[in-house]
Amino acid sequence: MSAMARRMRFQVSKPVLAGREKEYVMDALDSGWISGSGGYVERFEKAVSEFLGCDGGVAVVNGTAALHLALLALGARPGTKVIVPAFTYVACPNAVRYCGAQPVFADCDPFTWNVTRQAVEACLSPRTAGVLLVHLFGLPADVASIAELCRERGLWLLEDCAQSLGARQNHLPTGRFGDMAAFSFYGNKVASSGEGGMVFARDPAMRPLLRELRNQGLSSAQHHWHGVIGFNYRMSNLLAAIGCAQMEMIDHHIRERRRIASRYISRLQPLQASGTIRLPVEPPGCDRIFWLFGFVLETGSRHTKDRIRDRLLQEYGIQTRPFYVPMHRLPMYAQDGAFPNAEFLGDHGIVLPTYSGLSSEEIDEISDAVAGIIQEELACG
Ligand SMILES: Cc1ncc(COP(=O)(O)O)c(C=O)c1O
Repeated sequence: MSAMARRMRFQVSKPVLAGREKEYVMDALDSGWISGSGGYVERFEKAVSEFLGCDGGVAVVNGTAALHLALLALGARPGTKVIVPAFTYVACPNAVRYCGAQPVFADCDPFTWNVTRQAVEACLSPRTAGVLLVHLFGLPADVASIAELCRERGLWLLEDCAQSLGARQNHLPTGRFGDMAAFSFYGNKVASSGEGGMVFARDPAMRPLLRELRNQGLSSAQHHWHGVIGFNYRMSNLLAAIGCAQMEMIDHHIRERRRIASRYISRLQPLQASGTIRLPVEPPGCDRIFWLFGFVLETGSRHTKDRIRDRLLQEYGIQTRPFYVPMHRLPMYAQDGAFPNAEFLGDHGIVLPTYSGLSSEEIDEISDAVAGIIQEELACG
């Protein structure tokens, strides 16, 4: 590894703790409440709920736990099938399998990177119980239309908003379309609590069950009474304190990521115009956020992408990330079906550094390095 790479200059992501995080964590520590009680958890739930314009967020340990509890409450169980994107993070099919249900993969759209209504329709079967729809990279999926399809077919809809906190379709935030929604507050998200998640149920009658499942099935009415098999998915007061401070700055972080993405887009536009790369889109009616900024090589192989990433790190100290390996390529999720778009994105996608505070000069430097290396690598064939 070169000296340049050893002092990595640009990480893909880093949390920016520029608000009242330290103050709130110290306050939580001073109070002695370091586990699930102490006030910050409820405050965090209220902050996220208010931001989304709804009620009843239930904070949990992470986004995967949020998906798991939502799926259990919706009735995913052995013998049922859940439609899941083939191109997504592994937590999605994992959570379905935790419930004993079967994930059925839908291919994604090559330009939005999300699944479409048509792709969901192609996966329907008599055993389909619901759809786990993911708003990838902060772009709302075709969610109003898929919600309508679910209503017509008697299916439930769970939105995975881990990457889309603050994104809107037709002015309504993602998370407000489905029967339930799950959020993640992992360190690379627009608002982070270090580790954390939150689950929302549209039907208020479902919320007590989510709270019980989060806390070992403990009844709210009777001490030491556990009416269902639950989990220890409680969020810590310390982490919720960080989350509260992050939610105070969320509009700033969303604006920052848009500024960064817009600059990348304008700098990399000539490569798109020449048919070399594909940039993120923002279809009409969508008010997306930029979770991480990614682009897709139009040509070359998986190895070309790997070489480009390797050279960016070695020669410029720029860390990048590949897109997800499609779920059906993972050994535990191999299944029949054609997923050409998910495979293309998985083989050709590259994520660039995206975090609040990245300066215009730094974005230009990264973009110029990306453009130069891509042109050299593609010229070599
Ligand atoms: C789309 C998606 N779903 C679910 C998760 C799981 O969230 P967590 O890492 O907080 O468990 C993530 C990841 O971070 C994600 O990106």
